[in-house]
Parts: sequence; C-alpha cells; structure tokens
Amino acid sequence: MKISVIGCGYLGAVHAACMADLGHEVVGVDVDAAKVALLSAGTPPFFEPGLPELLRSAIASGRLSFTTDISAVREATVHFIAVGTPQLGESNAADLRYVDAAVEGLLPHLRDGDLVVGKSTVPVGTAARLAELVRSAGSGATLAWNPEFLREGFAVKDTLAPDRLVYGLAPGDSVGERLLDSVYASALALGTPKVVADFATAELVKVAANAFLATKISFINAMAEVAEATGADVTQLADAIGYDARIGRKFLNAGLGFGGGCLPKDIRGFMARAEELGVDQALSFLREVDSINLRRRGRMVDLVTEVVGGDVAGKRIAVLGLAFKPDSDDVRDSPAIDVAVRLAALGADVVATDPEALETSRRRFPDLNYVASVDDAVRGADAVALLTEWKTYRALDPTLVGSAVATRAIVDGRNCLDPVQWRAAGWLYRALGRP
Ligand code: UDX
Repeated sequence: MKISVIGCGYLGAVHAACMADLGHEVVGVDVDAAKVALLSAGTPPFFEPGLPELLRSAIASGRLSFTTDISAVREATVHFIAVGTPQLGESNAADLRYVDAAVEGLLPHLRDGDLVVGKSTVPVGTAARLAELVRSAGSGATLAWNPEFLREGFAVKDTLAPDRLVYGLAPGDSVGERLLDSVYASALALGTPKVVADFATAELVKVAANAFLATKISFINAMAEVAEATGADVTQLADAIGYDARIGRKFLNAGLGFGGGCLPKDIRGFMARAEELGVDQALSFLREVDSINLRRRGRMVDLVTEVVGGDVAGKRIAVLGLAFKPDSDDVRDSPAIDVAVRLAALGADVVATDPEALETSRRRFPDLNYVASVDDAVRGADAVALLTEWKTYRALDPTLVGSAVATRAIVDGRNCLDPVQWRAAGWLYRALGRP
C-alpha cells in the first residue's frame, strides 16, 4: 500500500516509520523543513525508544521518505492526518487549524478511490464535517477516522502491535474498511480486535479513553489527599484495591499526576465540546479530575517548603526529572517542570536535571538552572525533589547521594523510592500520600 502521513510529530513520525516497517511505501509530509531534514537523515527530532533504529532501517529499505512538498502525496492511496490539536490559548477547546489545513492541503491531490484517514484527536463532529469537505471537492476520495492510542515511550510497540483498532466510517463505506484492513493486515493477522463504528463513536472512543485514564489517576490522587489527612499509605491502598480485577492496578500510581501532550488538553477539549453540545453536566466531573491533578503540584511545592524549614527562598533544591513521564523528552504540561518553575519563582536556587529533557526544558524555560548529571544537581542541596520516576532515579543509592547533599531531605513526587531504605540511610523522606 502507498501511504502518506501528514504531520511528522510524535504521532506522525512514529506512524510513518512503523507503516514502512510493515512493508508499505510511505511518504511523510511536514511544513517544518528542519524536522523533515532531521527525519530524512534518520534522526527523530524527539526522544522515543526504538524509533531511531526503525527510521534508519525504513529509510535504507527505500520505503520511507520525508518532504515538505505536499504534492508528494499524489503517489499514495491512503493519507493519514497526524497533525497536532493543541489546546486553544484562550479556552479549553482544541485548536483545529492544523487538521483543517492538512485536509485542505490534500484536496487538490486526491484521486478517485483515495482514503483520507484522521488520526489526530478531535472534538466529536469534526470527522463528519471533514468528510463533507472531501466529498464536495469531487475527487471521489472518502474519509475515515482511525484514532490512535499510542503512549510516548512505547510508541513503536503500540503502533506495531496495538491493543485495538477503531475505524470510524461513513455508512456503508466498505471500500474504506478494506483499505484500512490492508494497511493493518499484520496487526489483524495477530488477532487484534477491530471495532467498526460511525464517525462520532470513533472520535468519542479516543477522548473517552483518555478521560477514563485521567479519572483513574485523579481518583488515586484524591485518595492520596485523604491518606495525607489520616496517616494512611496510598501506595498500599492502590495495591490492595488493584488486586480486584474489576479495578486493576494499572494507572493507580499516586504522585504528581498527569501531564503531557494528551491527557490534560484532551479532557479540557472534551469538556468544551460537551458544553457546545449542551451536555456539560455529563462531564462536570472532569473539572474535578483536572483540579485534583493540579492540586498535587501545589502539595509538592508545600512539602519541599516544609522539609527545608518553611521557606524555600535561597535554599538549594535539586530537581530530579523534568519530563512529564520517564522515557520521554516531552515537557508539554509537565507536572515536574511546573513544580521546578514554581519553586524558582518562590526564590529557591533550583538545580534541575533530566536524562533526556534538558533541551526541551531549556527551550520552554530558559531561565532555570540546568545541569547534566544527578551528581551536579544534588551537590550541596538543601533538599532533593524527585519529580519524574526515571529508572536511574529509582535506583539511586541513598548513601552515595547522601554524601553529596548539604541536608539529607528528599520529597518523592512519584512514590518510586523505598522509604525504609532512605530513612535507614539517615534521610528525611516525604512523599505524596504516604506517611
Ligand atoms: C496517553 C494515553 O495513555 C495514550 O493512550 C494516548 O494515545 C495519549 O495519551 P501518554 O501521554 O504518552 O499517553 O502518557 P501516559 O503513559 O498515559 O501517562 C500520562 C501521564 O499520567 C504521565 O504524566 C504519567 O506520569 C501520569 N500517570 C500515569 C500517573 O500519574 N499515574 C499513573 O498511574 C499513570
């Protein structure tokens, strides 16, 4: 199958490389010439485990290329839209300008039998509108919506072996279904469940999944607030309720909460769309989910303040972790960087490090003090704030770190350290939702 992918960010670059790996001929199109140059050289413009190898082998096979020239899509039959839908600056709603521009850019190049496939996360109703735009242009091409559920850090695996495929199709569009089946033949052969639905259902599946995940995280973080008021331990509570198969232990890690390019803006966009549809009450709980999530960041700042004696001004705080989660260099809506910036704003002498997110952090917040290693970050620190649970941080030796700091005080924002071990090494250990 000849495929084009419009938009080569986290989603599109991974999708393009994976489709080429599966044997399809793929061209990736992006308006950013610098990004296209990097990708063409086999270098992803962001950190994603496994992607550099996949990109290089797909390019070497001759099945994958990147360009800024939209007319290159003419060779392809299936055109994936993988551009961003960020939160609008002035409201909770999603900004659809990139999706609209991508479809409009495709229109002059579409031929009879082509299929435009939306992957971006959009407000329900968008696919029907864009399908009409494609239809009225008269090329004979049609549109489908095929939401993407990949997680950063596992993007390659999630794309090559997804846990489900969702096709949103116009009524009776068997041609669209067959084309998508050819694209995903290898996943289907492995028995991947496939849900064929209408446009609205397919669009809602994506935001509903993200709303559920965000709610699960905020639920356990709400329990952490109660645990803090009672002396209970939220990590044990999560283990105990997680043994119930109906609840499950996944996404019950209490701590600094969720961030990144998806969950925060998707629940806000979902609320904004529900309001337009007159069903805002149905999603009013998501406002609470968002508030619980944001409150954890404030609590983290308060705990750091507490362990340094009530005022962070002038105190040296080692910040370990800036990415919104481990195995990513993404700092979009990162709880970690938010806490680091808040501490700095309170006058703390913040020294921050991260294994992969230093450059992305520096671009967004050039005024923070960044260092390359944990050693440099913790030297002479009055307190350590662990904000992203990178594997290397989880494995830190409390005695070694203890010999470098000025005061053995640590706040574990991700409940990823063993309190017994750290306290035994003479540390004042505090965490979110744990005594
Ligand atoms: C998410 C969805 O998982 C994915 O299906 C969708 O396609 C895009 O959005 P991603 O943003 O990559 O993926 O991250 P995810 O692994 O879901 O984590 C989101 C945030 O929740 C991170 O900040 C993470 O630290 C936090 N989180 C996750 C918790 O605080 N506790 C948990 O138990 C799990």
